[in-house]
Amino acid sequence: MNDPWIAPSILAADFARLGDEVASVLEAGADIIHFDVMDNHYVPNLTVGPMVLSALRKFGIKSMMDVHLMVNPVDRLIGDFVEAGADMITFHPEASDHVDRSLSLIKSSGAKCGLVLNPATPLSVLDYTLEGLDMVLVMSINPGFGGQTFLPMTYQKIEAIRRRIDAVNPAIRLEVDGGVKIDNIGAIKAAGADTFVAGTAIFGTDDYGAVISAMRQAMN
Ligand code: DX5
Ligand code: ZN
Repeated sequence: MNDPWIAPSILAADFARLGDEVASVLEAGADIIHFDVMDNHYVPNLTVGPMVLSALRKFGIKSMMDVHLMVNPVDRLIGDFVEAGADMITFHPEASDHVDRSLSLIKSSGAKCGLVLNPATPLSVLDYTLEGLDMVLVMSINPGFGGQTFLPMTYQKIEAIRRRIDAVNPAIRLEVDGGVKIDNIGAIKAAGADTFVAGTAIFGTDDYGAVISAMRQAMN
């Protein structure tokens, strides 16, 4: 299985000091940065776009940027995000009219690609797509807002996706997003996830390093 990655979500950071926040959380031991993009159309909230990612790159952020697109349409933004410095782009298949085309666009732009499954999205979206993915992102909440409670039905879904990933290519990452905290990260890893998004659990405290090391401890 892949090494576990902790991916703080910028959604819970102080946007007025975003560059410093991202730098601090990386210094505190985060593996990658989870960059939530919301459009007030696919989800009822609005965040930031490629200009902000590009500003973080100019500020000196070198880590992997995992861009979670909660937008409809999808394709229009792919090139802009890759140009801005995105390494990984995931999107919700319900938001794209042509899922295979969106995946190909991401790959041909030079980024890694992934699909995001909402709580009610069936695993059948992985038929014909899984082999070509670098990541599967399982939502353990309904997308749009941070600070929600992890939905327990997600455990079974993670286990089922882990079986499918192992049968195809164990290098495909299995990321979980929503309500991940110190007290459930161990169980989420045991179910088969290897990449853990955490917004409020990390940025909602004043010692990012302490939370990240407690999360690592809880996974052992
Ligand atoms: C919600 C976002 C999440 C969010 C998670 O739609 O995709 O990444 O930041 O926040 P927490 O960790 O607070 O549940
Ligand atoms: Zn997210």
